[in-house]
Formats: sequence, structure tokens, C-alpha cells
Amino acid sequence: MNTDLITYYKERANEYENIYLKPERQDDLKSATLILQNIFTNRSIFEIACGTGFWTEKIAQTSTSVFATDINKELIEIAQQKKYGKASVSFGIEDIYQLPVKTIYESLFGGFIWSHIKLQDIDKFLESVNNSIIPGGLIVFMDNNFVEGSNHPITGTDDAGNTFQKRKLEDGTTHLVIKNFPTEIFIKTKLNEIVSDLKFINLKFYWILTYKIPAKN
Ligand SMILES: C[S@@+](CC[C@H](N)C(=O)[O-])C[C@H]1O[C@@H](n2cnc3c(N)ncnc32)[C@H](O)[C@@H]1O
Repeated sequence: MNTDLITYYKERANEYENIYLKPERQDDLKSATLILQNIFTNRSIFEIACGTGFWTEKIAQTSTSVFATDINKELIEIAQQKKYGKASVSFGIEDIYQLPVKTIYESLFGGFIWSHIKLQDIDKFLESVNNSIIPGGLIVFMDNNFVEGSNHPITGTDDAGNTFQKRKLEDGTTHLVIKNFPTEIFIKTKLNEIVSDLKFINLKFYWILTYKIPAKN
């Protein structure tokens, strides 16, 4: 069974967006789309782990520009085939743990990536993310709440407390995927002392986190 996250997403590329067809999640997806479009109005966005560009397409409707990045070129190639609104949208390969420092972007979006970060790597991940945009900039994450019957069940927990799901792809291969479901308190504790304007929006199936990188004196 494959245990590598990057390989899993590479092999899931062509079936990835089926996740957005779940009927019970449609109302939340509409709400989240409006929330994100509102947050990013007239902003330039550095998007990490963009996958097939599902959210890139949504946030491009109200932002001025999106630089959408992922570690897997197979997913970016799918994203590149989409039609984007008036925003200028470009793509690149970036590793979330080694993002470029202090880019020109005033905001960052990461959809459904926090849950795939090992607990022991969260600080490294946040340092990379928080240093990648301009001081005073806005960071936004969105991810899953665990809802029984809608999410894959948790099949295991490791010594560090990370939780895992067994997932099967259409070609029959199985993959052990890290999928953590952090609480609002866990997230706030991680960030409270290093960022400002922390806001946590809780929907049924999803949460959205926004915060600002302190402006330098
Ligand atoms: C759950 S998908 C999210 C895709 C997209 N943001 C969305 O919400 O539809 C996770 C994405 O993270 C990417 N990824 C995994 N590890 C990464 C890394 N180290 N650096 C950048 N992207 C990574 C995968 O290739 C995949 O596209």
C-alpha cells in the first residue's frame, strides 16, 4: 500500500474533483465560495497546494491575480485547462515546506492542505507559509471537519497523534493517507502568539481560518 502523500495526489489527479460532487456538501461549498470570494476581493493571491484549480477558479472571480502552485505537475496541468475570470492567473511548482520568501503577494490561500501536515511538521509548514507573503499580508486556510458518514473513517493513529485514512482509487490501488482534523483551539494555540486578526469560521463540513502576518515596525 502506498503511503506517500505526493504520489497519492499525483495518481488521484484525474478523479480528484469527484470529492466536490458529494450532495450533502453542496450548501457548504456554496457558502465557502462566497466567503472566499469576499475575503479575496481585489487582492493578489499566492495559492499553495492548488491541486486541479477547483478553488483557484473560484477565487480568481474576485481577486486581481492568482499565482497557483502545487508540487505535482500532473495536477497543475489539469488546472491550466480551466477558464479563469478577469484575474491574471499563472502557475508554478512549489513545495509548501520551502516556499519563496517574501514574494510580492499580499495574501495566501491553502485549501485542504493543513489536514495533510504531520503534527510534528506544522511549525515548519507555518514558518514557510508565514514568510512567503508581504508583512501585513493575509493568510487563509480551508479544510475539512470530520463528519461521520461523509468522511472516510479514521483507520489509524501514529505515536505522534497523526490520524490516517485508507483510500482506494479507481484503478484499485490503496493508499494510506495522513488526514488530521485539528480543533479550533489547537489551531489558535499554534498561531495566537505569532499572528494577528485570527478568525475561525466553522461550517458543517469545512472550516476557514484567516489571519494576518504582523506588519514590520
Ligand atoms: C487535498 S489536495 C488540495 C487541492 C486543492 N487545494 C483543493 O482544495 O481542491 C492536496 C494538494 O496538496 C499537494 N501537495 C502535497 N504535498 C505537497 C507539498 N509538499 N508541496 C506542495 N503541494 C503539495 C497535492 O499535490 C494536492 O494537489
